[in-house]
Amino acid sequence: MPPRSPDLPSVALPADKELVLKVVPMPADVNANGDIFGGWVMAQVDLAGSVLPQRISHTRMVTVAVNEFIFKQPVRVGDILSFYAGVQHVGRTSVAVDVEVFAERFSDQGKYVKVTEARLTYVAIDATGKPQSLPDTEQTRAWREKIQAQAATKS
Ligand SMILES: CC(C)(COP(=O)(O)OP(=O)(O)OC[C@H]1O[C@@H](n2cnc3c(N)ncnc32)[C@H](O)[C@@H]1OP(=O)(O)O)[C@@H](O)C(=O)NCCC(=O)NCCS
Repeated sequence: MPPRSPDLPSVALPADKELVLKVVPMPADVNANGDIFGGWVMAQVDLAGSVLPQRISHTRMVTVAVNEFIFKQPVRVGDILSFYAGVQHVGRTSVAVDVEVFAERFSDQGKYVKVTEARLTYVAIDATGKPQSLPDTEQTRAWREKIQAQAATKS
């Protein structure tokens, strides 16, 4: 097998996102290249991305869209993966979340390589599976104000 390309430089973990999941991929999760199967990574990102929307909705939610998904570097067996999430938009029924995934390589722990970034949108649903409004709670209003303030800072 040809030598692996070196990792990109390690990066700082995001200060504006929350750690929502840590997991170590196993040999059962590899693809034909010997790296971790992209579908496995997508499943973990979907789970990680759902945590903050769930906190906002307090009801059943479904993934309506994977708006963007970028595999920046391969994930390997034994990496310690850290999933950081940040809410980007709180709509009437939907919540959009950015997820960034960082790997600590098995032999180089303490250094973080960004392996994946994605944006996903989740929708709150009622018992019949139809979209339902997010609750108008203090928490929901706080999320909307926080996101508006962040957007104002960026523009
Ligand atoms: C999610 C679902 C309930 C939405 O039903 P719908 O009638 O299409 O809903 P709407 O068109 O009213 O959209 C609902 C919300 O989703 C948002 N939305 C819909 N498509 C979107 C997309 N591609 N990207 C971002 N947001 C999207 C809408 O903007 C709306 O948000 P808002 O209420 O905050 O403004 C329905 O499409 C569904 O059941 N999909 C299957 C979900 C599923 O099984 N997911 C698991 C994947 S295996």
